[in-house]
Amino acid sequence: MRTQVAIIGAGPSGLLLGQLLYKAGIDSIIIERQSGDYVLTRIRAGILEQVTTDLLDEAGVGARMHREGLVHCGFEMLFDNRRHRIDLKKLTVGKRVMVYGQTELTRDLMEARASADLPTLYEASNVAVHDFDGKQPRVTYEKDGQHFEIHCDFIAGCDGFHGVCRASVPSSSMEQFEKAYPFGWLGVLSDTPPVHDELIYINSPRGFALCSQRSHTRSRYYLQVPLTDKVESWSDDAFWHELRLRLDPQGRDELITGPAIEKSIAPLRSFITEPMRFGRMFLAGDAAHIVPPTGAKGLNLAATDVKFLSQAFIEFYHDKTEAGINGYSARCLKRIWRGERFSWWFTQLMHRFPEDSAMGARFQQAELDYLIHSEAGARTIAENYVGLPLDFGN
Ligand code: APR
Ligand code: PHB
Repeated sequence: MRTQVAIIGAGPSGLLLGQLLYKAGIDSIIIERQSGDYVLTRIRAGILEQVTTDLLDEAGVGARMHREGLVHCGFEMLFDNRRHRIDLKKLTVGKRVMVYGQTELTRDLMEARASADLPTLYEASNVAVHDFDGKQPRVTYEKDGQHFEIHCDFIAGCDGFHGVCRASVPSSSMEQFEKAYPFGWLGVLSDTPPVHDELIYINSPRGFALCSQRSHTRSRYYLQVPLTDKVESWSDDAFWHELRLRLDPQGRDELITGPAIEKSIAPLRSFITEPMRFGRMFLAGDAAHIVPPTGAKGLNLAATDVKFLSQAFIEFYHDKTEAGINGYSARCLKRIWRGERFSWWFTQLMHRFPEDSAMGARFQQAELDYLIHSEAGARTIAENYVGLPLDFGN
């Protein structure tokens, strides 16, 4: 088999890249280790920046998102038993975010790929990438007991944090930065109306909590929990009880509970690999970087990588220039470090850290108090949350 771009991984990054390349007349094959159904069972964050919604429109997959997604012009920060609204629209002169689950976005991209009859090889095992430091990279994999080989011009490593692409690069050729946080997020999805029409980020003495949503009838809630907690030991009742304790009196009154349709614990991590290009192989999305979910930046950073990578390939094939390819890594990393910094800072601001002294907690409260009472402070949160412009700082 031969293609122009072999894409490893059919998560949002790989599927979006495939779709943008297809629109530009560039061939791709996607090789995915799991089944399509399995990919759709993963529940992840659901806040899209304008840059991401614009890119989905450009890829021709935005119709359902515009019909079913919820536009949010602000969110609440709750601390010291009081809510403070961050008015995104006012503070950023008109910007908003879109609430649309990553699962739905993945489904839209999968359907677009299937209806264009583009090749996605699901349930491929032993995927391996070869010769990406030369001019003729290859991908090999097995399926149904047979061995296959794909020859390509480029490999796009969209295979997430545990993928094979980054793992195939000698460690002497890259630098990795990592911070693990001493807690996780216990998440519950439930078919109950959200407690509030906007998101509520909560810093309480019992730890962080987040009230999010997927629609007017489906809620997504999170609690900060110790890493040693097991999801099996959190009954639905225990979850709702603890969430109530972290909410304000209004939230306690208004919270509607119901059975959890999904419950899981995710660790929090900041992680960046430099560079993101290795000869003819390029990393994008979670394969190259992870953020803690507090700022909802994971999917949005992945989308910008994919935008820059698709532009680089389009320039290569259509304009016969390697400038985009050569600049890919530096262009992405500048934006990634900004997103990583915001996610790390917002995480520090909103969570209780086990090692913090009483003084640390007071500093955190004073910082929150300053941020929401100063227009400059509130704007700092808002402009990072909606996403900095693509050309920021250039
Ligand atoms: N071979 C083929 N596919 C692989 C391999 C492999 N060796 N290893 C992993 N994969 C697949 C995974 O099964 C997964 O479907 O790569 C895909 C990677 O998808 P994601 O982990 O969703 O990563 P990405 O597409 O970059 O999405 C970024 O998802 O994880 C969130 O916070 C993140 O929202 C962000 C977005
Ligand atoms: C979510 O809805 O899953 C979500 C929303 C905002 C975040 C993180 C997760 O910051």
